[in-house]
Amino acid sequence: MRIDLGNTSVLVTGASRGIGAAVARAMGRAGARVAIHFRDQRQQATALAEQIGASAEVFQADLSRTEECDALWKAVVARFGRVNTLVNNAGIAISSPLESATGEWLQAWDTTMAVNLRAPAILSRLAIEHFRTRGGGRIINISSRAAFRGDQPPYLAYAASKGGLVALTRSIARGFGKAGILAFNVAPGFTRTDMAKDFLDEYGEDYVAGDIALERLTEPEDIAPFVVFLASGLGDHSTGCTIDVNAGSYVH
Ligand SMILES: NC(=O)c1ccc[n+]([C@@H]2O[C@H](COP(=O)([O-])OP(=O)(O)OC[C@H]3O[C@@H](n4cnc5c(N)ncnc54)[C@H](OP(=O)(O)O)[C@@H]3O)[C@@H](O)[C@H]2O)c1
Repeated sequence: MRIDLGNTSVLVTGASRGIGAAVARAMGRAGARVAIHFRDQRQQATALAEQIGASAEVFQADLSRTEECDALWKAVVARFGRVNTLVNNAGIAISSPLESATGEWLQAWDTTMAVNLRAPAILSRLAIEHFRTRGGGRIINISSRAAFRGDQPPYLAYAASKGGLVALTRSIARGFGKAGILAFNVAPGFTRTDMAKDFLDEYGEDYVAGDIALERLTEPEDIAPFVVFLASGLGDHSTGCTIDVNAGSYVH
């Protein structure tokens, strides 16, 4: 089986590093034109675009801000004309213990929800409008194992945001399938990225290794092929599904 995403374009949010960068690279390798979104890491995003090739372009936006979500989508459509696939990957995991001051705890909750759930919802709404007049499209949301088994107490908001993302995805799949709009979740387990580094520093490598059935920890490149596969259309009849990529945590 060969996957050819030639003549298609994809927006990957949070593609400057980690899982998003691996997804953007894999999409580019499969022939897609890639919109590489970043917030702060312009240099890494630009280097990635150069690596992918001439058709890839970088777009900046702070997705915690409603108007920047809107501007991002419009900028990508203005440059690419058509977007076939939206990958909502950008995310944050803020450690916020229950013992924090109420204001701080609420701030972490609101920021987490804004980036991890509200931004994907805003972008999905814009994508659905776009797909409706263009014969369909795909939305792939990067959720988390935390949506299903919960997370450590300082990460309540993170787990809740990812659970919300799963429900959002399923509702899109349910509501717009007949319009040719498909929606999927990919739910990574612990994956070696900058985000994971904070967790590793807090809980240690042994804690993480003890949770999985495989020998080595998941890398961003272990996640990317599933996203490319879903973007290809080969998985359309699994719309609404979640693909768990967690090194066998559920069977361990
Ligand atoms: N790593 C894991 O173990 C793991 C497990 C399950 C699920 N996930 C999910 O996988 C996705 C990617 O995670 P990762 O580990 O690759 O994270 P990462 O290495 O920390 O990268 C996060 C990405 O999101 C972008 N971003 C962060 N805040 C943003 C904001 N306010 N506006 C716009 N962009 C923002 C960053 O942009 P800049 O670099 O330009 O600032 C960066 O590209 C996330 O949704 C995460 O929840 C990760």
